[in-house]
Formats: sequence, structure tokens, C-alpha cells
Amino acid sequence: MKKGFKVLRSGMHFLIQLLLISTVVELTHAAASKSGHRGLSTAGPGFPALPNNGLRFNFYGATCPQAENVVRNMVQGFIMNDFTIAPALIRLHFHDCSASNGCDGSILLNSVDGGKTPPEKASPANIGLRGFDLVEEIKSELERECPGIVSCADILALIARDATATIGGPFWFEPLGRRDGFVSKISDMVTMPAPYDRLGTLLQKFAAMNLNLVDLVALSGVHTIGRAHCESFNRRLSNFHRTHKPDPTLKPAYANQLRRQCSPRNNTAVLVPNNPFSIGIFDNQYYLNLLAGKVLFTSDEELLSNRRARVLIEQFANDQFAFFNQFSTSIINLGNAKVLTGRKGNIRKVCSRVH
Ligand code: HEM
Repeated sequence: MKKGFKVLRSGMHFLIQLLLISTVVELTHAAASKSGHRGLSTAGPGFPALPNNGLRFNFYGATCPQAENVVRNMVQGFIMNDFTIAPALIRLHFHDCSASNGCDGSILLNSVDGGKTPPEKASPANIGLRGFDLVEEIKSELERECPGIVSCADILALIARDATATIGGPFWFEPLGRRDGFVSKISDMVTMPAPYDRLGTLLQKFAAMNLNLVDLVALSGVHTIGRAHCESFNRRLSNFHRTHKPDPTLKPAYANQLRRQCSPRNNTAVLVPNNPFSIGIFDNQYYLNLLAGKVLFTSDEELLSNRRARVLIEQFANDQFAFFNQFSTSIINLGNAKVLTGRKGNIRKVCSRVH
């Protein structure tokens, strides 16, 4: 009974939160279109200076004015139905942008040569990646509203933005105008940051997307939500680097808890929350976990090895607003990675197929 009440209370809390966020997003959208944020390049929180790559705010204002509303309403509906889909939807944009061909919607493609070359999505680097069917649903709706206008790459960026805001995270104005690529090869995923990467490798892979240490620290904060398979972190739990001991940076009690969750027989298919302390809410808890030795991946833990990164981690742990501001700026930076604009690429009709 008590448990039922708790579930009901958190369900109501979620609904109220969703309602509030919808209103805030609606108001900010209205304010943005009123002040004509078209081609705007003002710097400031949520409005970083835009690089000269062809992306701009309110890109679909004239050609498909309802595009952003359609995406937002559908994303909110999906999350109402299943809150675990929010992290999955955010992650798709990151995986699209960190493939070697950048944010061009290629993560959504099936094999483009009849199965001879496996596509990006077949790479083990995309373990657990899901939500492809929901992106396709949104695409179909947009094709009905305004055929041939909104790219799959832009849909991924908008979905990530709206999923973040829906679960309590920041809202930002997303520069748009990306076009879709024609190629998707499994080998394009070699540039994808991996959970056992050390800091140097992470920085190199981020630099290839024109992202720096600050972006790395802020974007890693998204691991405050979502889940991971045991195989993404279980090398840290025992015999770490052949020491017959767990990773010493992992809090021993937490390592024990994770070992229990990943048993029996170290089941690699089990899913564990990235952050068990505030499940389903986009907040700054990740940074508190990091400082307490309670994060899953080596790539998370490695951030503490850098002095500048540690200062940021402490700041974000103390100040959620600072984290939200930097996260908004950094995810916009991520969305600039090697984009196709103007006459490059095309606008797919179906996100999983080139035509
Ligand atoms: C810094 C480098 C990063 C590495 C090495 C990394 C790695 C991973 C891994 C291994 C998982 C668990 C996958 C699984 O086992 O199922 C995961 C989950 C996740 N990652 Fe990252 N990630 C990184 C950065 C990011 C960024 C920049 C974003 C988005 C902006 C992101 C969003 C997510 C989300 C939302 C989840 C949970 C997915 C779900 O619940 O379905 N990650 N990440």
C-alpha cells in the first residue's frame, strides 16, 4: 500500500513537472518567435555565438513553423508512456554526432548497400542504443505536415533537447538546418568515445568534434540519467588491470552493490542505473556521485584526474544552474560537429533509408 502510494506520488510529481515544463517551453518559444530569433548569433546562456556553418535558430520558421511543436508534443507523449525512453532519445543525438561523419542522421540508417557493409548502428559501440522506431514516427508525422523539409539529423537534435527539458533538465534554443548524409558504415563508429577510455583518448575524440575539456565535463553530466549494461563497466568491479582487486577509485560498498546487481555469473546483459540516487530526473547528482566514487564508467572517473576538470566538477556539484548553463552551450557545440548544410546532403523521407 505504502509502495503504491509512493509510485502514485512520483507519477503525479512527474505529470505536474511535465505540465510546468510544457508551459515554460511554450512561453520561451513564443518569446523567441516574437523577437525573431532568426539567424541570431548573440552569445549568452542558451545562445552561444554560432559558428559560420549554416545552422541558425528558427530555421523552419517559414517552411515548417509547426515542426518544433510536433517534435516536442510527440517526445512528451513517448516519455509519459515510458520515462526510460528519455535518456535513450538524448543518447541518439550524441552517437549520431560522434560518428566520423558528424551530425548527419547516419546513425539512423540501415545498410545503404543492401547489407554488404553493416551500418553505424550495428557497431558494438552503440550497445543498448534504442528509440529508432520513435524517431521514425516523428519523421512520418513531419512528412505529413511538411514533406521533404525537416532533416533526420535536426529531428535528433530537437528530440535530445525536448527529452532533456521534459525530465527536468535545461531548455535551449537549438540551431537548425542540418542536412542528412548518404553513408553509414560500422567503421565510422571508431571515433565514438568508449566507457573504458582514458582522459587523453576522450579529449582526442572530443577534439575531433571540435569539443574541449569543458564540453567533456558538462556533457558527461548527462550520465545523471539512464542505464548501462554490466559489460560497460564490470571490468572495474574485480581484477581491475589484473590486480585481483576492484578499481580503487570505485567506492568499495558501491562496487559490492554493483557486483551483486550484475550477478549471477556476472551477467553482462543486466541493466543498472547510471545514477541510482535520483532516477529519471535530469539534475546535477552525477557530479556528487563522481566526487563520492560512485560512477559507472572509467570515462566518468577519469575526469577527476585533471585539475581544471575537478574545479568544474566541484562547481557543477554545488550549482545545478551552472551545470545546466554549460550543458546547454556544450550540447549546441556537439550539434555543430561536421554538419552538412546548404546544398550538401539531402532531406530523407524515411530516416532509416537513403533515396
Ligand atoms: C564522454 C564520453 C561518453 C562515454 C564513454 C559514454 C558511454 C556510455 C555508455 C557505455 C553507456 C551505457 C550503454 C549501455 O551499456 O547500455 C552510456 C549511457 C548513456 N549515455 Fe553516454 N557516454 C559518453 C558521453 C555521453 C554524452 C555526451 C551523452 C549525451 C549528450 C550521453 C548520453 C548517454 C545516455 C542518456 C545514456 C543512458 C542511455 C539509456 O538509458 O538508454 N553519453 N554512455
